[in-house]
Amino acid sequence: MRKVTKAIFPVAGLGTRFLPATKSIPKEIMTLVDRPLIQYAIDEARAAGITEFIFVTSRGKSALEDYFDHAPELESALRAKGKDKLLEVLETTNMDSGAIAYIRQHKPLGLGHAVWCAQRLIGNEPFAVILPDDVISAEKPCLAQMVEAHEETGGNIVAAMEVPPEKASAYGVLDIAEDMGSLVSVKGMVEKPKADEAPSNLAVIGRYILTPRVMRQLDRANAGAGGEIQLTDAIAAQIGSGQGVYGFRFRGQRFDCGSKAGFLQATVAFGLSRDDLRDEFGQYLQDMMALRKAAE
Ligand code: UTP
Repeated sequence: MRKVTKAIFPVAGLGTRFLPATKSIPKEIMTLVDRPLIQYAIDEARAAGITEFIFVTSRGKSALEDYFDHAPELESALRAKGKDKLLEVLETTNMDSGAIAYIRQHKPLGLGHAVWCAQRLIGNEPFAVILPDDVISAEKPCLAQMVEAHEETGGNIVAAMEVPPEKASAYGVLDIAEDMGSLVSVKGMVEKPKADEAPSNLAVIGRYILTPRVMRQLDRANAGAGGEIQLTDAIAAQIGSGQGVYGFRFRGQRFDCGSKAGFLQATVAFGLSRDDLRDEFGQYLQDMMALRKAAE
């Protein structure tokens, strides 16, 4: 089986839930503490053995391209001042020439369409898809867990997590054929089902390992739920084709940083996980809670 070495990062969405900020800042450049969302996604991909990074972008996302560029003036200023620690931090943002590619999605026609835009760069190989606004905190990074599972199963794997029934209609939801613990085999997938029509409470979140057949399916795709070309539909079409579709219950905590509440929760969690911030920030949160209680 071919190793997964390519990942697609679809970042061409409008990010309307973060307007007005996203009028001029790509959502993926917004920071959790001091690192943009996209940095967490890139680090996770690297930890899973990804060596080719494909960004599907749109108008107004040039800050993303600049972020991964070298910054010679900044670097020499830091070097002159002997700021080696900061130079090391900057190094994590540098990408090797040729390792990163940018493709434009000219119209926001949906996640499936964004993934399809990268088809020529994917060719006939399995590939990963990472949605940077799903940030996952885990001892072993989520995509690395999935790559390991994929070595056993092959086929298509989507990251999945249990959600409360009233929230299922915000996700793609799995219809489970067989539950094997961390892996489930899937007999159907429904994008954003009505509250009483969700086949389970196992929801798909933003990590995928997919076969090139999914690309070919996207080639033929028509608009699905919400008038968009849905990635879920192209994956669901693989069921019964001989290549399995699996849900993977990853170990870790996922933050929906595409929503304001999720972004704030992630900020608190990542702030508290930092040695340099834990004490001061933790104390502040405690004081805030005490003040709130006293006011009630
Ligand atoms: P979302 O559903 O979160 O949409 O997309 P969005 O545009 O980013 O944000 P809101 O809902 O308007 O606030 C999920 C992922 O799919 C990408 C987004 O960039 C995000 O990473 N996407 C979505 C595309 O690349 N192209 C699209 O046409 C739609």
